Amino acid sequence: MRIIRELTELPPAYDGAFIPTMGALHEGHFALIRRAVRTPHRPIVVSIFVNPTQFAPGEDFERYSRNFEEDYEKAQAAGAEVIFAPSVKAMYPPDTQIPIPPLPKVAREPGLEESSRPGHFEGVCQVVARLFDLLKPRCAVFGEKDYQQLLVIRAMVEHEGERWDGLEIISHETVRESDGLALSSRNVNLDTEQRSRATGLSKALQQASESSSPPAAEAAMRRILDDHDLEIDYAVVRDAETLMAVETLEKPTRALIAARLGNVRLIDNLAIPASI
Ligand code: PAF
Repeated sequence: MRIIRELTELPPAYDGAFIPTMGALHEGHFALIRRAVRTPHRPIVVSIFVNPTQFAPGEDFERYSRNFEEDYEKAQAAGAEVIFAPSVKAMYPPDTQIPIPPLPKVAREPGLEESSRPGHFEGVCQVVARLFDLLKPRCAVFGEKDYQQLLVIRAMVEHEGERWDGLEIISHETVRESDGLALSSRNVNLDTEQRSRATGLSKALQQASESSSPPAAEAAMRRILDDHDLEIDYAVVRDAETLMAVETLEKPTRALIAARLGNVRLIDNLAIPASI
């Protein structure tokens, strides 16, 4: 498998299938790579880049797990053909302003991730736009675990029109442990006791999906998260496309949670099908 670290080594266009990651790869990422393998596009390009601009000061940028050798072996086994692993200096050269695309409404208006992590989606859009510009893929695969991110990226691609020439954004369902915990690179930071409490997120979402109204679903989620001693950033039921508040479950909605255990912040979400 080819490793590319310098921008000068990149071809003019890859025309392949792209999976952007920050490394610390796990089964959730491998599912995205395998999904890319099922597309007709080649090569399968995985980027590994812990993007500093999407972390606020005091967040876990420094602590974010990094293990290139292991990522390399496992990405290759899952079907990756090229690893793009640039340095921060290559992605953000000194004295060069890397533009931030206009932030779509779905980033800020729902008051979810951007309320807890101001500037986060600016950083995500900046790096993803830069990666799309550099790699020029035909399709890119994103996980539903970062559901708001998925909607933000889709909206950004739609807004940018022809910039990425028909680029298709493909989503893939969240991969879970057998007890329901969504796979996340941050799970390795949980101690044994926190790992067991973290199952509160998926239990709360499951309960929400069986509730009769958004307020009932939100109350049920809060109760379960409290029972697991999780500090809630948000636990809400929202319109599945706009992420704005809803009064009924008549249209497809999404239950979304962000909660903290010590200094680990976890997010998860679940589709609630329309109830008519
Ligand atoms: O989801 C992630 O891992 C990151 O936000 C992404 C899309 C790779 C951008 O840095």
